[in-house]
Amino acid sequence: MTAPAQPVDTFDLVIFGGTGDLAVRKLLPALFHRFVDGQIQAGSRIIGVAREALDDDGYRAQIRSALNGAADSQPAKLDAFLKLVGYRPLDARKDDGWDDFAKLMAEQPDNVRVFYLSTSPELFVDICQRLGHYGLNKGESRVVLEKPIGHDLASANRINDDVGSVFAESQTFRIDHYLGKETVQNLLALRFGNALFEPLWNAGHIDHVQITVAETLGVGRRGPYYDHAGALRDMVQNHLLQLLCMVAMEPPASLSPNAVRDEKLKVLHALKTIDDSNAAQLTVRGQYRAGVAEGQSVPGYIEDLNNDSKTKVQKSNTETFVALKAEIGNWRWAGVPFYLRTGKRLAERVSEIVVAFKPVPHSIFSASAGPLAQNRLVLRLQPDEGVKLWLTIKHPGPGGLRLRHVPLDMSFAEAFGAQQSDAYERLLLDVVRGNPTLFMRRDEVEAAWRWADPILAAWAAGGEAPRPYTAGTWGPSSAVALIERDGRTWDEDNE
Ligand code: BG6
Repeated sequence: MTAPAQPVDTFDLVIFGGTGDLAVRKLLPALFHRFVDGQIQAGSRIIGVAREALDDDGYRAQIRSALNGAADSQPAKLDAFLKLVGYRPLDARKDDGWDDFAKLMAEQPDNVRVFYLSTSPELFVDICQRLGHYGLNKGESRVVLEKPIGHDLASANRINDDVGSVFAESQTFRIDHYLGKETVQNLLALRFGNALFEPLWNAGHIDHVQITVAETLGVGRRGPYYDHAGALRDMVQNHLLQLLCMVAMEPPASLSPNAVRDEKLKVLHALKTIDDSNAAQLTVRGQYRAGVAEGQSVPGYIEDLNNDSKTKVQKSNTETFVALKAEIGNWRWAGVPFYLRTGKRLAERVSEIVVAFKPVPHSIFSASAGPLAQNRLVLRLQPDEGVKLWLTIKHPGPGGLRLRHVPLDMSFAEAFGAQQSDAYERLLLDVVRGNPTLFMRRDEVEAAWRWADPILAAWAAGGEAPRPYTAGTWGPSSAVALIERDGRTWDEDNE
């Protein structure tokens, strides 16, 4: 059984970029699921905003077809949900329609107001200034900023300053949807709800940590955005670093938003610099070429880019894969490598954190017992969310003492019998509740850029093209070499 859901206060959620991929594929389905579970009460409104000239019914029809899969067996619920949904055509840079929009907002003055900016970051400031102009930043109002916040530290600072001139930090929710994933929450429960792990959670007992976020999809229709960003900005600066922080942070004094975020910030500050003096040894960039992914022939990155753009390119220096070795310079983690890797068009869709413990100091077993493997704690974020603790046991039965490495396995789906909710379901309602624990504070975003910027600068100065890798593989061979040089291997044993 999953925990029962509590209704939240009535709200107006305005999604800027309401016809975009994120809104249609993630945000609306997440809201629908929360509605079906009874957490969204009558009187709440969900308003899509975009430049397209649509009306309420046209938008509802789009959302209906997007939600049909999710709502297969519950057409009445879908009808009821769509009654909460409306649409306003607005251009962040033009005046038309804004007066009407402000009137619409004024109709339900007691609702919590959430403005979700699922747009390109260049529009954040225009939108916030208009919201401020109409006084929509007052009272129980919050703004949600989708990543990436900027392109580097300087641009992130500009955005944060400008948004900050309209919305206070306490009203600003910088979303990183990885923090809403069930397993990431579970990492908190495992680390701080059990006495078993914390005494071992340090350089004395942990050999290394691996964080992999592998995708089988290519860049799809997001080429124009992605080519400007690349994997380091798109995934590492935010999602992977946030996961690293959750593994590495000191126990916070409480789960209060600032207690958790203060501890994450200390980890970001303690990350050792990677710059042009060591980037060649510690980082690998790759770019996919045509290959076979999930049984289908798929094009390479350049073809994907050209598919969706009028101006054709011959080459691009953008990485679709990154592997790197990070280190945290503090007492708990000195000398423990954190190997991070992420990429598009890899062999499998899998996101996981592997905490590999040190081997036993001395083996009492004979060679015929078989090799002694390291204990590993594997936290699987997706698919099949769950946790496995790999232990050594005696192979059951008579005969000599032979050792086996087996997992203590906790698959959440099996244990709790329910489909796990999507990260956005939790995070959207956290915004309505005004709970920022799982959102990035401004100083965290800045610290993450402060670490990422020298890597980007080193790559730019080095001028090396990303290493090619065939779609459907685990990335360039130099990523294997990166970890094997240290006598370790990537954990690809996904039984
Ligand atoms: C997004 C990135 O933040 O996360 C995408 O911009 C990536 O490039 C996505 O595909 C992955 O999210 P998930 O939840 O599917 O692992």
